[in-house]
Amino acid sequence: MAGPIPELEERATRCAQRLCEADRVLLASHIDADGLTSGAIATQALERASIPVETIFEKQLDDDAIAAIAATEYDTVCFTDFGSGQLDSIAEHEDAGAFTPIIADHHQPADSDTEYHLNPLLFGIDGASELSGAGASYVLARALADVADETGLATDGGTSGATTDTATDARADNRDLAALAVVGAVGDMQASGGKLQGANEKIVAEGVDAGVLETGKDLALYGKQTRPLPKLLEYASDVHIPGISNNEAGALQFLEDLDLELKADGEWRRWSGLTNDEKQTVASALVRKAVSTGVPAGKIDGLVGTAYVLSEEPVGTELRDASEFSTLLNATARYERADVGLGVCLGDREGALEQARTLLRNHRRNLSEGITLITNEGVTHEEHVQWFDAGDRIRETIVGIVAGMAMGNDGVSHSKPIFAFAAKNDEETKVSARGTHNLVRQGLDLSSVMSEASQAVGGDGGGHNVAAGATVPAGEESEFIEHANELVGEQLG
Ligand code: C5P
Ligand code: C5P
Ligand code: C5P
Ligand code: ZN
Repeated sequence: MAGPIPELEERATRCAQRLCEADRVLLASHIDADGLTSGAIATQALERASIPVETIFEKQLDDDAIAAIAATEYDTVCFTDFGSGQLDSIAEHEDAGAFTPIIADHHQPADSDTEYHLNPLLFGIDGASELSGAGASYVLARALADVADETGLATDGGTSGATTDTATDARADNRDLAALAVVGAVGDMQASGGKLQGANEKIVAEGVDAGVLETGKDLALYGKQTRPLPKLLEYASDVHIPGISNNEAGALQFLEDLDLELKADGEWRRWSGLTNDEKQTVASALVRKAVSTGVPAGKIDGLVGTAYVLSEEPVGTELRDASEFSTLLNATARYERADVGLGVCLGDREGALEQARTLLRNHRRNLSEGITLITNEGVTHEEHVQWFDAGDRIRETIVGIVAGMAMGNDGVSHSKPIFAFAAKNDEETKVSARGTHNLVRQGLDLSSVMSEASQAVGGDGGGHNVAAGATVPAGEESEFIEHANELVGEQLG
Protein backbone atom coordinates (compact mmCIF):
# COMPACT_ATOMS: atom_id res chain seq x y z
CA MET A 1 0.00 0.00 0.00
CA ALA A 2 1.32 3.39 -0.84
CA GLY A 3 1.14 5.86 1.98
CA PRO A 4 2.53 7.44 5.10
CA ILE A 5 2.57 4.31 7.28
CA PRO A 6 5.81 2.63 6.22
CA GLU A 7 6.22 0.94 9.63
CA LEU A 8 2.92 -0.89 9.25
CA GLU A 9 3.89 -2.09 5.79
CA GLU A 10 7.37 -3.07 6.94
CA ARG A 11 5.81 -5.20 9.66
CA ALA A 12 3.41 -6.69 7.10
CA THR A 13 6.35 -7.61 4.88
CA ARG A 14 8.08 -9.41 7.76
CA CYS A 15 4.87 -11.31 8.54
CA ALA A 16 4.49 -12.20 4.86
CA GLN A 17 8.08 -13.44 4.64
CA ARG A 18 7.50 -15.69 7.62
CA LEU A 19 4.28 -17.04 6.09
CA CYS A 20 6.11 -17.80 2.84
CA GLU A 21 8.54 -19.98 4.79
CA ALA A 22 5.69 -22.21 6.00
CA ASP A 23 4.77 -25.53 4.37
CA ARG A 24 1.19 -24.93 5.38
CA VAL A 25 -0.73 -22.55 7.59
CA LEU A 26 -3.63 -22.82 10.03
CA LEU A 27 -5.69 -19.66 9.80
CA ALA A 28 -8.00 -18.77 12.68
CA SER A 29 -10.43 -15.87 12.56
CA HIS A 30 -13.32 -14.29 14.42
CA ILE A 31 -17.03 -14.97 13.77
CA ASP A 32 -18.33 -11.59 12.71
CA ALA A 33 -18.41 -9.70 9.43
CA ASP A 34 -14.95 -8.26 9.99
CA GLY A 35 -13.57 -11.64 11.06
CA LEU A 36 -15.08 -13.43 8.07
CA THR A 37 -13.74 -10.91 5.58
CA SER A 38 -10.37 -11.00 7.36
CA GLY A 39 -10.32 -14.77 7.03
CA ALA A 40 -11.42 -14.66 3.40
CA ILE A 41 -8.75 -12.09 2.49
CA ALA A 42 -5.95 -14.01 4.20
CA THR A 43 -7.13 -17.36 2.82
CA GLN A 44 -7.12 -16.07 -0.75
CA ALA A 45 -3.77 -14.34 -0.32
CA LEU A 46 -2.18 -17.54 1.02
CA GLU A 47 -3.74 -19.69 -1.70
CA ARG A 48 -2.59 -17.29 -4.39
CA ALA A 49 0.92 -17.52 -2.94
CA SER A 50 0.61 -21.32 -3.18
CA ILE A 51 0.75 -21.78 0.60
CA PRO A 52 -1.70 -24.51 1.70
CA VAL A 53 -4.12 -23.15 4.27
CA GLU A 54 -6.85 -24.50 6.53
CA THR A 55 -9.29 -21.83 7.76
CA ILE A 56 -11.22 -22.09 11.03
CA PHE A 57 -13.44 -19.65 12.95
CA GLU A 58 -13.85 -19.13 16.68
CA LYS A 59 -16.51 -17.24 18.62
CA GLN A 60 -13.84 -16.26 21.06
CA LEU A 61 -10.13 -16.93 21.19
CA ASP A 62 -10.05 -18.05 24.79
CA ASP A 63 -7.41 -20.22 26.48
CA ASP A 64 -9.20 -23.42 25.47
CA ALA A 65 -9.39 -22.37 21.82
CA ILE A 66 -5.69 -21.45 21.80
CA ALA A 67 -4.76 -24.74 23.49
CA ALA A 68 -6.76 -26.64 20.86
CA ILE A 69 -4.89 -24.80 18.11
CA ALA A 70 -1.59 -25.55 19.83
CA ALA A 71 -2.52 -29.23 19.90
CA THR A 72 -2.81 -29.38 16.08
CA GLU A 73 0.08 -30.41 13.86
CA TYR A 74 0.43 -26.92 12.42
CA ASP A 75 3.72 -25.10 13.08
CA THR A 76 2.52 -21.79 11.67
CA VAL A 77 -0.73 -20.21 12.79
CA CYS A 78 -2.14 -17.01 11.37
CA PHE A 79 -4.70 -15.17 13.54
CA THR A 80 -6.90 -12.52 11.96
CA ASP A 81 -9.29 -10.07 13.68
CA PHE A 82 -8.23 -11.44 17.05
CA GLY A 83 -5.00 -12.56 18.68
CA SER A 84 -3.62 -9.23 19.93
CA GLY A 85 -5.80 -9.24 23.04
CA GLN A 86 -4.85 -12.88 23.70
CA LEU A 87 -1.10 -12.45 23.27
CA ASP A 88 -0.32 -13.47 26.84
CA SER A 89 -1.73 -16.91 26.23
CA ILE A 90 -0.49 -17.16 22.63
CA ALA A 91 3.05 -16.19 23.68
CA GLU A 92 3.10 -19.01 26.26
CA HIS A 93 2.37 -21.57 23.55
CA GLU A 94 4.91 -19.94 21.26
CA ASP A 95 7.57 -20.12 23.97
CA ALA A 96 6.71 -23.79 24.50
CA GLY A 97 7.41 -24.36 20.81
CA ALA A 98 3.83 -25.23 19.84
CA PHE A 99 3.62 -22.84 16.88
CA THR A 100 4.78 -19.54 15.44
CA PRO A 101 1.95 -16.99 15.51
CA ILE A 102 1.40 -14.39 12.80
CA ILE A 103 -1.26 -11.91 13.91
CA ALA A 104 -3.22 -9.40 11.82
CA ASP A 105 -5.59 -7.69 14.25
CA HIS A 106 -6.88 -4.30 15.37
CA HIS A 107 -7.91 -4.96 18.97
CA GLN A 108 -6.17 -3.58 22.03
CA PRO A 109 -3.03 -5.74 22.55
CA ALA A 110 -2.30 -7.57 25.81
CA ASP A 111 1.02 -7.06 27.63
CA SER A 112 3.07 -9.72 25.83
CA ASP A 113 4.26 -9.13 22.29
CA THR A 114 5.53 -11.29 19.48
CA GLU A 115 7.67 -10.81 16.39
CA TYR A 116 5.02 -11.17 13.69
CA HIS A 117 2.37 -8.89 15.09
CA LEU A 118 0.56 -6.60 12.65
CA ASN A 119 -1.79 -4.18 14.43
CA PRO A 120 -2.56 -0.54 13.56
CA LEU A 121 -2.49 0.37 17.27
CA LEU A 122 1.24 -0.42 17.35
CA PHE A 123 1.81 2.30 14.77
CA GLY A 124 -0.40 5.11 16.01
CA ILE A 125 -3.39 4.17 13.86
CA ASP A 126 -6.77 3.91 15.59
CA GLY A 127 -7.97 0.30 15.42
CA ALA A 128 -11.57 1.28 16.13
CA SER A 129 -11.99 3.85 13.39
CA GLU A 130 -9.08 3.78 10.93
CA LEU A 131 -8.29 0.13 10.23
CA SER A 132 -10.28 -3.04 10.88
CA GLY A 133 -9.20 -6.67 11.12
CA ALA A 134 -10.00 -7.03 7.43
CA GLY A 135 -7.92 -3.91 6.75
CA ALA A 136 -4.95 -5.36 8.64
CA SER A 137 -5.42 -8.63 6.72
CA TYR A 138 -5.52 -6.67 3.47
CA VAL A 139 -2.21 -4.97 4.29
CA LEU A 140 -0.82 -8.44 4.95
CA ALA A 141 -2.30 -9.75 1.67
CA ARG A 142 -0.69 -6.94 -0.31
CA ALA A 143 2.67 -7.74 1.29
CA LEU A 144 2.19 -11.46 0.61
CA ALA A 145 1.73 -10.79 -3.10
CA ASP A 146 4.96 -8.78 -3.17
CA VAL A 147 6.97 -11.29 -1.18
CA ALA A 148 5.60 -14.29 -3.12
CA ASP A 149 6.48 -12.49 -6.35
CA GLU A 150 10.04 -11.82 -5.20
CA THR A 151 10.62 -15.31 -3.90
CA GLY A 152 9.17 -16.87 -7.04
CA LEU A 153 6.26 -18.57 -5.29
CA ALA A 154 3.58 -19.06 -7.90
CA THR A 155 0.68 -16.66 -7.80
CA ASP A 156 -2.39 -17.57 -9.79
CA GLY A 157 -3.19 -13.90 -10.29
CA GLY A 158 -2.73 -13.81 -14.03
CA THR A 159 -4.21 -17.14 -14.98
CA SER A 160 -7.58 -17.93 -13.52
CA GLY A 161 -10.60 -16.30 -14.98
CA ALA A 162 -9.61 -12.64 -14.93
CA THR A 163 -10.74 -11.04 -18.14
CA THR A 164 -9.36 -7.53 -18.30
CA ASP A 165 -5.86 -6.22 -17.73
CA THR A 166 -7.05 -4.15 -14.79
CA ALA A 167 -8.64 -7.18 -13.18
CA THR A 168 -5.56 -9.30 -13.87
CA ASP A 169 -3.24 -6.71 -12.35
CA ALA A 170 -5.51 -6.26 -9.35
CA ARG A 171 -5.58 -9.98 -8.67
CA ALA A 172 -1.85 -10.29 -9.11
CA ASP A 173 -1.16 -7.83 -6.31
CA ASN A 174 -4.27 -8.65 -4.26
CA ARG A 175 -5.78 -5.19 -4.67
CA ASP A 176 -9.06 -6.82 -5.70
CA LEU A 177 -9.36 -7.89 -2.03
CA ALA A 178 -9.89 -4.24 -1.07
CA ALA A 179 -13.64 -4.78 -1.59
CA LEU A 180 -13.76 -7.35 1.23
CA ALA A 181 -11.58 -5.12 3.41
CA VAL A 182 -14.14 -2.35 3.06
CA VAL A 183 -16.99 -4.74 3.91
CA GLY A 184 -15.10 -5.66 7.09
CA ALA A 185 -14.48 -2.04 8.09
CA VAL A 186 -18.10 -1.10 7.45
CA GLY A 187 -19.23 -4.20 9.37
CA ASP A 188 -17.21 -3.00 12.35
CA MET A 189 -19.01 0.36 12.11
CA GLN A 190 -15.84 2.19 11.13
CA ALA A 191 -17.81 4.33 8.67
CA SER A 192 -20.33 5.39 11.28
CA GLY A 193 -19.18 9.01 11.09
CA GLY A 194 -20.43 9.12 7.47
CA LYS A 195 -17.34 7.82 5.73
CA LEU A 196 -14.24 5.69 6.17
CA GLN A 197 -11.14 7.50 7.33
CA GLY A 198 -7.39 7.23 7.67
CA ALA A 199 -5.81 3.98 6.53
CA ASN A 200 -9.26 2.72 5.51
CA GLU A 201 -9.52 5.53 3.00
CA LYS A 202 -6.38 4.36 1.29
CA ILE A 203 -7.80 0.88 0.93
CA VAL A 204 -10.91 2.39 -0.63
CA ALA A 205 -8.74 4.28 -3.13
CA GLU A 206 -6.92 1.07 -4.07
CA GLY A 207 -10.25 -0.73 -4.52
CA VAL A 208 -11.54 2.03 -6.78
CA ASP A 209 -8.33 1.91 -8.75
CA ALA A 210 -8.60 -1.86 -9.06
CA GLY A 211 -12.16 -1.55 -10.38
CA VAL A 212 -13.82 -3.43 -7.52
CA LEU A 213 -15.26 -0.44 -5.62
CA GLU A 214 -17.21 2.71 -6.35
CA THR A 215 -17.89 5.43 -3.83
CA GLY A 216 -20.02 8.51 -3.84
CA LYS A 217 -22.34 10.63 -1.74
CA ASP A 218 -25.66 8.91 -1.33
CA LEU A 219 -28.56 8.55 1.04
CA ALA A 220 -27.12 7.14 4.27
CA LEU A 221 -29.88 4.62 4.92
CA TYR A 222 -29.51 0.89 5.40
CA GLY A 223 -30.99 -1.25 2.62
CA LYS A 224 -30.47 0.80 -0.54
CA GLN A 225 -29.91 -2.32 -2.62
CA THR A 226 -32.57 -4.71 -1.40
CA ARG A 227 -35.29 -2.90 0.54
CA PRO A 228 -38.44 -1.73 -1.29
CA LEU A 229 -38.57 2.08 -0.98
CA PRO A 230 -41.29 2.30 1.70
CA LYS A 231 -39.38 -0.17 3.91
CA LEU A 232 -36.13 1.70 3.30
CA LEU A 233 -37.69 4.85 4.73
CA GLU A 234 -39.81 3.24 7.42
CA TYR A 235 -36.97 1.23 8.94
CA ALA A 236 -34.35 3.99 8.72
CA SER A 237 -33.66 4.61 12.37
CA ASP A 238 -30.31 6.41 12.39
CA VAL A 239 -32.01 9.72 11.57
CA HIS A 240 -35.54 9.79 12.97
CA ILE A 241 -37.95 11.65 10.69
CA PRO A 242 -41.33 12.11 12.38
CA GLY A 243 -44.16 10.80 10.21
CA ILE A 244 -41.86 8.49 8.23
CA SER A 245 -39.52 6.56 10.54
CA ASN A 246 -41.25 3.57 12.13
CA ASN A 247 -44.44 4.71 10.38
CA GLU A 248 -45.59 2.37 7.61
CA ALA A 249 -48.56 4.46 6.47
CA GLY A 250 -46.53 7.67 6.67
CA ALA A 251 -43.68 6.28 4.59
CA LEU A 252 -46.14 5.04 1.94
CA GLN A 253 -47.98 8.37 1.83
CA PHE A 254 -44.73 10.31 1.52
CA LEU A 255 -43.72 8.27 -1.54
CA GLU A 256 -47.18 8.37 -3.11
CA ASP A 257 -47.25 12.15 -2.83
CA LEU A 258 -44.11 12.44 -4.98
CA ASP A 259 -44.65 12.98 -8.67
CA LEU A 260 -42.68 9.86 -9.60
CA GLU A 261 -43.38 6.35 -10.92
CA LEU A 262 -41.95 4.46 -7.96
CA LYS A 263 -43.68 1.17 -8.68
CA ALA A 264 -42.90 -1.29 -11.44
CA ASP A 265 -45.29 -4.16 -12.19
CA GLY A 266 -47.20 -3.30 -9.04
CA GLU A 267 -44.09 -3.67 -6.86
CA TRP A 268 -42.25 -0.86 -5.09
CA ARG A 269 -38.88 -0.20 -6.67
CA ARG A 270 -35.61 -0.11 -4.75
CA TRP A 271 -33.29 2.85 -4.26
CA SER A 272 -30.52 1.15 -6.25
CA GLY A 273 -32.77 0.98 -9.31
CA LEU A 274 -33.72 4.69 -9.36
CA THR A 275 -32.17 7.10 -11.84
CA ASN A 276 -30.03 9.89 -10.45
CA ASP A 277 -32.83 12.39 -11.07
CA GLU A 278 -35.32 10.22 -9.23
CA LYS A 279 -32.89 9.80 -6.32
CA GLN A 280 -32.42 13.55 -6.20
CA THR A 281 -36.17 14.15 -6.08
CA VAL A 282 -36.76 11.66 -3.26
CA ALA A 283 -33.76 12.89 -1.27
CA SER A 284 -34.77 16.54 -1.54
CA ALA A 285 -38.32 15.77 -0.47
CA LEU A 286 -36.98 13.78 2.45
CA VAL A 287 -34.78 16.66 3.58
CA ARG A 288 -37.74 19.07 3.26
CA LYS A 289 -39.86 16.72 5.34
CA ALA A 290 -37.13 16.49 7.97
CA VAL A 291 -36.77 20.27 8.13
CA SER A 292 -40.51 20.81 8.35
CA THR A 293 -40.89 18.27 11.16
CA GLY A 294 -38.18 19.95 13.19
CA VAL A 295 -35.28 17.49 12.80
CA PRO A 296 -32.14 19.43 13.84
CA ALA A 297 -29.77 20.47 11.04
CA GLY A 298 -26.93 18.38 12.44
CA LYS A 299 -29.09 15.26 12.20
CA ILE A 300 -30.26 16.10 8.70
CA ASP A 301 -26.62 16.17 7.55
CA GLY A 302 -26.50 12.54 8.64
CA LEU A 303 -29.04 11.61 5.97
CA VAL A 304 -26.28 11.79 3.39
CA GLY A 305 -23.03 9.87 3.61
CA THR A 306 -20.46 8.06 1.53
CA ALA A 307 -21.74 4.81 0.05
CA TYR A 308 -19.38 1.93 -0.69
CA VAL A 309 -20.53 -0.06 -3.69
CA LEU A 310 -18.95 -3.34 -4.77
CA SER A 311 -19.06 -2.60 -8.46
CA GLU A 312 -18.64 -6.16 -9.67
CA GLU A 313 -21.70 -7.45 -7.79
CA PRO A 314 -25.17 -7.35 -9.37
CA VAL A 315 -27.38 -4.30 -8.73
CA GLY A 316 -30.13 -4.98 -6.21
CA THR A 317 -28.26 -7.66 -4.25
CA GLU A 318 -26.93 -7.51 -0.68
CA LEU A 319 -23.45 -8.06 -2.04
CA ARG A 320 -23.32 -4.75 -3.87
CA ASP A 321 -23.62 -2.60 -0.75
CA ALA A 322 -20.83 -2.90 1.84
CA SER A 323 -23.23 -2.41 4.71
CA GLU A 324 -25.80 -4.96 3.54
CA PHE A 325 -22.99 -7.40 2.67
CA SER A 326 -21.66 -7.12 6.22
CA THR A 327 -25.06 -7.83 7.73
CA LEU A 328 -25.40 -10.88 5.47
CA LEU A 329 -22.09 -12.14 6.86
CA ASN A 330 -23.08 -11.51 10.48
CA ALA A 331 -26.19 -13.55 9.74
CA THR A 332 -24.00 -16.58 9.01
CA ALA A 333 -21.05 -16.62 11.36
CA ARG A 334 -22.87 -15.40 14.45
CA TYR A 335 -25.16 -18.43 13.98
CA GLU A 336 -22.41 -21.02 13.74
CA ARG A 337 -22.41 -21.00 9.94
CA ALA A 338 -19.11 -19.26 9.24
CA ASP A 339 -18.61 -21.78 6.44
CA VAL A 340 -21.53 -20.22 4.59
CA GLY A 341 -20.22 -16.67 5.01
CA LEU A 342 -16.74 -17.70 3.97
CA GLY A 343 -18.19 -19.36 0.88
CA VAL A 344 -19.92 -16.13 -0.09
CA CYS A 345 -16.72 -14.12 0.46
CA LEU A 346 -14.74 -16.59 -1.64
CA GLY A 347 -17.16 -16.13 -4.53
CA ASP A 348 -19.76 -18.89 -4.17
CA ARG A 349 -22.76 -17.19 -5.73
CA GLU A 350 -24.95 -20.31 -5.73
CA GLY A 351 -25.41 -22.56 -2.72
CA ALA A 352 -23.64 -20.42 -0.13
CA LEU A 353 -25.45 -17.24 -1.17
CA GLU A 354 -28.84 -18.92 -1.02
CA GLN A 355 -28.11 -20.34 2.42
CA ALA A 356 -26.84 -16.96 3.60
CA ARG A 357 -30.06 -15.29 2.50
CA THR A 358 -32.11 -17.77 4.49
CA LEU A 359 -29.94 -17.10 7.54
CA LEU A 360 -30.32 -13.37 6.94
CA ARG A 361 -34.11 -13.54 7.27
CA ASN A 362 -33.68 -15.19 10.63
CA HIS A 363 -30.99 -12.69 11.75
CA ARG A 364 -33.19 -9.74 10.81
CA ARG A 365 -36.10 -11.14 12.77
CA ASN A 366 -33.83 -11.63 15.79
CA LEU A 367 -32.44 -8.09 15.57
CA SER A 368 -35.88 -6.61 15.32
CA GLU A 369 -37.27 -8.71 18.20
CA GLY A 370 -34.24 -7.89 20.34
CA ILE A 371 -34.51 -4.16 19.75
CA THR A 372 -38.21 -4.27 20.59
CA LEU A 373 -37.48 -6.21 23.78
CA ILE A 374 -34.90 -3.69 25.05
CA THR A 375 -37.03 -0.72 24.06
CA ASN A 376 -40.24 -2.08 25.59
CA GLU A 377 -38.75 -3.31 28.84
CA GLY A 378 -36.45 -0.33 29.14
CA VAL A 379 -32.90 -0.16 30.46
CA THR A 380 -31.79 0.45 34.03
CA HIS A 381 -30.03 3.77 34.44
CA GLU A 382 -27.02 4.09 36.75
CA GLU A 383 -25.22 7.39 37.12
CA HIS A 384 -22.76 6.84 34.26
CA VAL A 385 -24.03 3.74 32.45
CA GLN A 386 -27.28 2.07 31.43
CA TRP A 387 -27.80 -1.67 31.27
CA PHE A 388 -30.18 -4.43 30.24
CA ASP A 389 -30.23 -8.13 31.10
CA ALA A 390 -31.64 -10.19 28.22
CA GLY A 391 -31.07 -13.57 29.90
CA ASP A 392 -31.62 -16.18 27.23
CA ARG A 393 -33.98 -14.01 25.21
CA ILE A 394 -31.27 -12.56 22.95
CA ARG A 395 -28.51 -14.70 21.52
CA GLU A 396 -25.19 -13.78 23.12
CA THR A 397 -23.50 -13.49 19.73
CA ILE A 398 -25.80 -10.65 18.62
CA VAL A 399 -26.62 -8.92 21.91
CA GLY A 400 -24.00 -6.23 21.20
CA ILE A 401 -25.40 -5.42 17.76
CA VAL A 402 -28.90 -5.21 19.24
CA ALA A 403 -27.78 -2.97 22.14
CA GLY A 404 -26.02 -0.63 19.71
CA MET A 405 -29.07 -0.43 17.48
CA ALA A 406 -31.41 0.21 20.44
CA MET A 407 -29.41 3.26 21.53
CA GLY A 408 -31.38 6.40 20.86
CA ASN A 409 -34.73 4.63 21.05
CA ASP A 410 -37.28 5.72 23.67
CA GLY A 411 -35.68 5.53 27.10
CA VAL A 412 -32.30 4.36 25.78
CA SER A 413 -29.88 7.24 26.10
CA HIS A 414 -27.25 8.27 23.58
CA SER A 415 -25.23 10.01 26.25
CA LYS A 416 -24.35 6.96 28.37
CA PRO A 417 -22.73 3.73 27.22
CA ILE A 418 -25.05 0.73 27.19
CA PHE A 419 -24.15 -2.66 28.73
CA ALA A 420 -26.23 -5.67 27.72
CA PHE A 421 -26.08 -9.10 29.38
CA ALA A 422 -27.05 -12.38 27.73
CA ALA A 423 -26.70 -15.89 29.07
CA LYS A 424 -23.87 -17.91 27.54
CA ASN A 425 -24.57 -21.06 29.53
CA ASP A 426 -25.42 -21.91 33.14
CA GLU A 427 -22.09 -20.70 34.44
CA GLU A 428 -21.23 -17.75 32.24
CA THR A 429 -22.80 -14.49 31.14
CA LYS A 430 -21.79 -12.49 28.08
CA VAL A 431 -21.68 -8.70 28.36
CA SER A 432 -21.57 -6.42 25.34
CA ALA A 433 -20.91 -2.72 25.71
CA ARG A 434 -21.52 -0.01 23.12
CA GLY A 435 -20.71 3.71 23.23
CA THR A 436 -20.68 6.52 20.72
CA HIS A 437 -17.82 8.35 19.04
CA ASN A 438 -18.94 11.43 20.93
CA LEU A 439 -18.41 9.67 24.27
CA VAL A 440 -15.04 8.39 23.10
CA ARG A 441 -13.98 11.96 22.39
CA GLN A 442 -14.90 12.73 26.01
CA GLY A 443 -12.62 9.96 27.26
CA LEU A 444 -14.67 6.77 27.13
CA ASP A 445 -12.64 3.58 26.62
CA LEU A 446 -14.93 0.55 26.84
CA SER A 447 -12.05 -1.82 26.13
CA SER A 448 -10.36 -1.02 29.44
CA VAL A 449 -13.70 -0.84 31.28
CA MET A 450 -14.65 -4.33 30.08
CA SER A 451 -11.24 -5.74 30.78
CA GLU A 452 -10.95 -4.29 34.31
CA ALA A 453 -14.55 -4.69 35.45
CA SER A 454 -14.73 -8.28 34.22
CA GLN A 455 -11.42 -9.24 35.79
CA ALA A 456 -12.58 -7.74 39.08
CA VAL A 457 -15.38 -10.33 39.16
CA GLY A 458 -13.39 -13.26 37.79
CA GLY A 459 -14.12 -12.85 34.09
CA ASP A 460 -12.28 -11.48 31.07
CA GLY A 461 -12.93 -9.06 28.26
CA GLY A 462 -11.64 -6.40 25.90
CA GLY A 463 -12.27 -4.90 22.48
CA HIS A 464 -12.31 -1.29 21.31
CA ASN A 465 -12.88 2.09 22.93
CA VAL A 466 -16.34 2.39 21.36
CA ALA A 467 -17.45 -1.25 21.46
CA ALA A 468 -16.24 -4.04 23.72
CA GLY A 469 -17.29 -7.32 25.25
CA ALA A 470 -16.61 -9.62 28.17
CA THR A 471 -17.55 -12.89 29.80
CA VAL A 472 -18.33 -12.90 33.53
CA PRO A 473 -19.36 -15.68 35.92
CA ALA A 474 -23.16 -15.96 36.17
CA GLY A 475 -24.41 -14.16 39.28
CA GLU A 476 -21.74 -11.44 39.13
CA GLU A 477 -23.74 -9.10 36.90
CA SER A 478 -24.57 -6.42 39.52
CA GLU A 479 -21.07 -6.46 40.93
CA PHE A 480 -19.77 -6.05 37.37
CA ILE A 481 -22.07 -3.09 36.67
CA GLU A 482 -20.91 -1.37 39.88
CA HIS A 483 -17.31 -1.60 38.71
CA ALA A 484 -18.21 -0.52 35.18
CA ASN A 485 -20.23 2.44 36.44
CA GLU A 486 -17.34 3.60 38.57
CA LEU A 487 -14.77 3.17 35.79
CA VAL A 488 -16.88 5.00 33.20
CA GLY A 489 -17.45 7.79 35.75
CA GLU A 490 -13.68 8.17 36.15
CA GLN A 491 -13.16 8.25 32.37
CA LEU A 492 -15.85 10.81 31.67
CA GLY A 493 -15.32 12.78 34.87
O1 C5P B 1 -14.56 -7.96 17.17
P1 C5P B 1 -14.82 -6.80 16.33
O2 C5P B 1 -13.82 -5.74 16.39
O3 C5P B 1 -14.94 -7.29 14.93
O4 C5P B 1 -16.25 -6.21 16.66
C1 C5P B 1 -16.55 -4.86 16.60
C2 C5P B 1 -17.98 -4.71 17.02
O5 C5P B 1 -18.15 -3.40 17.50
C3 C5P B 1 -19.01 -4.89 15.88
O6 C5P B 1 -20.09 -5.65 16.32
C4 C5P B 1 -19.45 -3.47 15.58
O7 C5P B 1 -20.77 -3.45 15.10
C5 C5P B 1 -19.28 -2.81 16.93
N1 C5P B 1 -19.09 -1.35 16.84
C6 C5P B 1 -20.14 -0.51 17.16
N2 C5P B 1 -20.01 0.85 17.06
C7 C5P B 1 -18.86 1.38 16.64
C8 C5P B 1 -17.76 0.55 16.32
C9 C5P B 1 -17.91 -0.82 16.45
O8 C5P B 1 -21.20 -0.99 17.53
N3 C5P B 1 -18.79 2.69 16.52
O1 C5P C 1 -25.81 -6.40 11.72
P1 C5P C 1 -24.73 -5.39 11.59
O2 C5P C 1 -23.79 -5.37 12.76
O3 C5P C 1 -24.00 -5.48 10.31
O4 C5P C 1 -25.46 -3.99 11.59
C1 C5P C 1 -24.69 -2.85 11.37
C2 C5P C 1 -25.64 -1.68 11.30
O5 C5P C 1 -26.47 -1.83 10.14
C3 C5P C 1 -26.59 -1.58 12.44
O6 C5P C 1 -26.08 -0.87 13.54
C4 C5P C 1 -27.76 -0.85 11.79
O7 C5P C 1 -27.54 0.53 11.79
C5 C5P C 1 -27.77 -1.36 10.39
N1 C5P C 1 -28.77 -2.43 10.15
C6 C5P C 1 -30.11 -2.10 9.93
N2 C5P C 1 -31.03 -3.08 9.68
C7 C5P C 1 -30.67 -4.36 9.67
C8 C5P C 1 -29.33 -4.73 9.91
C9 C5P C 1 -28.40 -3.73 10.15
O8 C5P C 1 -30.45 -0.95 9.95
N3 C5P C 1 -31.60 -5.28 9.44
O1 C5P D 1 -19.31 -9.49 21.18
P1 C5P D 1 -19.36 -8.03 20.95
O2 C5P D 1 -19.96 -7.68 19.62
O3 C5P D 1 -19.97 -7.25 22.05
O4 C5P D 1 -17.87 -7.58 20.90
C1 C5P D 1 -17.47 -6.24 20.86
C2 C5P D 1 -15.97 -6.18 20.78
O5 C5P D 1 -15.38 -6.69 21.98
C3 C5P D 1 -15.43 -7.03 19.67
O6 C5P D 1 -14.38 -6.32 19.11
C4 C5P D 1 -14.93 -8.28 20.38
O7 C5P D 1 -13.88 -8.88 19.70
C5 C5P D 1 -14.49 -7.74 21.71
N1 C5P D 1 -14.57 -8.74 22.78
C6 C5P D 1 -13.43 -9.08 23.51
N2 C5P D 1 -13.49 -10.00 24.52
C7 C5P D 1 -14.66 -10.61 24.83
C8 C5P D 1 -15.83 -10.28 24.11
C9 C5P D 1 -15.75 -9.34 23.08
O8 C5P D 1 -12.35 -8.55 23.23
N3 C5P D 1 -14.69 -11.48 25.83
ZN1 ZN E 1 -12.90 -6.52 13.90
